[in-house]
Amino acid sequence: PVADRVTDLLGRMTLPEKVGQMLQLNAKEGVRHLVEDLHAGSILHASPERVLEAAALTAETRLRIPLLVAEDCIHGHSFWEGATIYPTQLGMAATWDAGLVERIARATAVEVAATGVHWTFSPVLCITRDLRWGRVSETFGEDPYLIGELASAMVRGYQGDGLDDPTAILACAKHFAGYSETQGGRDASEADISRRKLRSWFLPPFERVAEEGCRTFMLGYQSMDGVPITVNEWLLGEVLRGEWGYTGTLVTDWDNVGRMVWEQKIYADYAQASAAAVRAGNDMVMTTSKFFEGAQEAVAEGMLTEAEIDAAVRRILTLKFELGLFENPRHPDPARQTAFIGSSAHAALNLEAARRSLVLLTNDGTLPFAGGLEANGGGRATGPGPRTVAVVGPNADDAQTQLGDWAGSSGQADWLPDGQPRAMIRTVLDGFREKVPADWTVSYAPGARILDVGPDPEGEFFPDGQPRPEVVIPAAPDPAMVAEAVAAAEAADHVVAVVGDRIELIGEGKSTATLELVGDQVALLDALAATGKPLVVVVISSKPLVLPPSALGAAAIVYAANPGMLGGTAVAELLLGLIEPTGRLPLSFARHAGQQPTYYNQVRGQHGTRYADLTQSPAFAFGEGLSYTTVTYTGLELLTGVVEPDGTVRALVTLTNTGSRPALETLQVYVSDTVTSVTWAEKELKAYEQVTLEPGESRHVSIELPVSVCTLVDARGHRVVEPGRFELLVGPSSRDEALLRAEFTVKG
Ligand code: IFM
Repeated sequence: PVADRVTDLLGRMTLPEKVGQMLQLNAKEGVRHLVEDLHAGSILHASPERVLEAAALTAETRLRIPLLVAEDCIHGHSFWEGATIYPTQLGMAATWDAGLVERIARATAVEVAATGVHWTFSPVLCITRDLRWGRVSETFGEDPYLIGELASAMVRGYQGDGLDDPTAILACAKHFAGYSETQGGRDASEADISRRKLRSWFLPPFERVAEEGCRTFMLGYQSMDGVPITVNEWLLGEVLRGEWGYTGTLVTDWDNVGRMVWEQKIYADYAQASAAAVRAGNDMVMTTSKFFEGAQEAVAEGMLTEAEIDAAVRRILTLKFELGLFENPRHPDPARQTAFIGSSAHAALNLEAARRSLVLLTNDGTLPFAGGLEANGGGRATGPGPRTVAVVGPNADDAQTQLGDWAGSSGQADWLPDGQPRAMIRTVLDGFREKVPADWTVSYAPGARILDVGPDPEGEFFPDGQPRPEVVIPAAPDPAMVAEAVAAAEAADHVVAVVGDRIELIGEGKSTATLELVGDQVALLDALAATGKPLVVVVISSKPLVLPPSALGAAAIVYAANPGMLGGTAVAELLLGLIEPTGRLPLSFARHAGQQPTYYNQVRGQHGTRYADLTQSPAFAFGEGLSYTTVTYTGLELLTGVVEPDGTVRALVTLTNTGSRPALETLQVYVSDTVTSVTWAEKELKAYEQVTLEPGESRHVSIELPVSVCTLVDARGHRVVEPGRFELLVGPSSRDEALLRAEFTVKG
């Protein structure tokens, strides 16, 4: 049994070898020192050459303990040329389809495992709060229930049928917990959250994936109540290990242990910091090489016992035995790479995901173009005689931004723009060229630039003393570019403007102060609107942006997030009517950056519901999204008016497709607790179901909700159902006016 093998191996290890096992180090800095001197247990950001070099060096060590190889493959393989890059987690969340997300994770695991990587730092369970945060695209949006559903699907997909399957990889739920409750949206700022608030909204998705068997958790960077998360004994010890009985492995984030010395200044030296981190429950220490001496010194000075080190090493070795790495180190496998990486099956899945991720926000009937086209055998549309589509805007042909973060573009690798086979990527411009009827014309003009990259005027330095090389500056207006796009629009029958943000504005440490469209994009949209041509605005951006009146008043708006390699094909298909719009927003769109946060499930009351100069209601709300048809909700009927606390609420509702095109409707079920002992959200999503409806079809949908989901976290921090009156709200989005209501009572 694994436990016996672990005990045997542990019994033969020296203290330095044990401490080394707890280290995960950056392979980009070379691997010889990491393996030979520091006895590292894991490496990250390793090319296949480095993986093989490290494995060869490991084979020469006394105990030949294999390395765990880790990487951030969070929507596909993040650095492999030709790997399949899917929509970001935010795009996946817009599908509201856990089955699809599970299939994406499975396919990702197959590609990733073939390259010698055993562990992906995914899924991200952070709840989006302030949209200015740079990592919104890595999340599943703003709702804890939806996040829990999709994240557990992802965990199932990565870990497959069991770790002994060579295509299984370790999932990692991150960032535990509350990291996204930023101040001013600034990444890794202090996220000071009360324990009750954590238990109310931030912890439930993590508890869900812990139950799902997610084998590893990663901590965030933040501090709470003055305590860095790395040494938060209450969260890691009492809650995670104690209450939840979590037996998986905990990894810190990047140099968390070091930061407690050089940045947060909580500890005077690495011995103290290392002792505190181990004692709090961390098993693996990411990129703090000084932990090697620090932990040994802590043991020598009596700050830490060897038994405490053993507990962490035991968990790491258990993972290695369960993955079977001692028998099969799962090295990069060229045959499987050829067979699976970027395979046509994965491309088909990727296109399905991109199609499902697109959210139609407004439509005055302009879409689909020409009333909707049919596909011919080859996938190209057939149409009503020659027409011209003007595809304009800076994101119409920006492959890198379309892929989004962790796609080889964030310093992890450099295969884009010149390394990645461009042929695998379809921008919106490519998509139109490929999909329009053969006798149509596609014209193109970028129309605007988003930003310039220049030297940092403040001369800031990274903590390690390196000068910050560059900052982004909104591009100066270029009237000639705008004029070129306007001319293209005026000569066209259909006008598509693709705007948004850019890869330089996306990611860790890249929060934005504003949410407006940067550069001269607003000038471009204003000028296009002034032509009087029906304007379709497609937003490719890592987060919801504030749209100007010329966009909000456009004929149609589509939000595409970062839709992955084949996102451009999917956008063209949608606008031409070859597919139906089915995506729903997993988070709210603000009207103004000053409204942050805009999430729908904020606690009620305190007169805080609007500004003197602006409503607090979002431009587009959580759950919103249109179809090319209309679906009505009628006859919500509660079958159980009064229920026991351990009972089930049952209801019926009728959905009817009153239009002429098929629908995939996402029926959303919210609950409102009418009187609560603590301030609580006015309503919360508790269930949803995706229902297909042919034109004219009606369906009775039954809703079953265990009363146990109607909980809140009371003033003592206990999750309870408080008896009394509740409302069941059923409809197509979180907007009050869209929801049918029925009341039920939970008995005392
Ligand atoms: O996994 C990431 C984490 O999300 C942010 N810091 C760096 C880690 C490793 O790349």
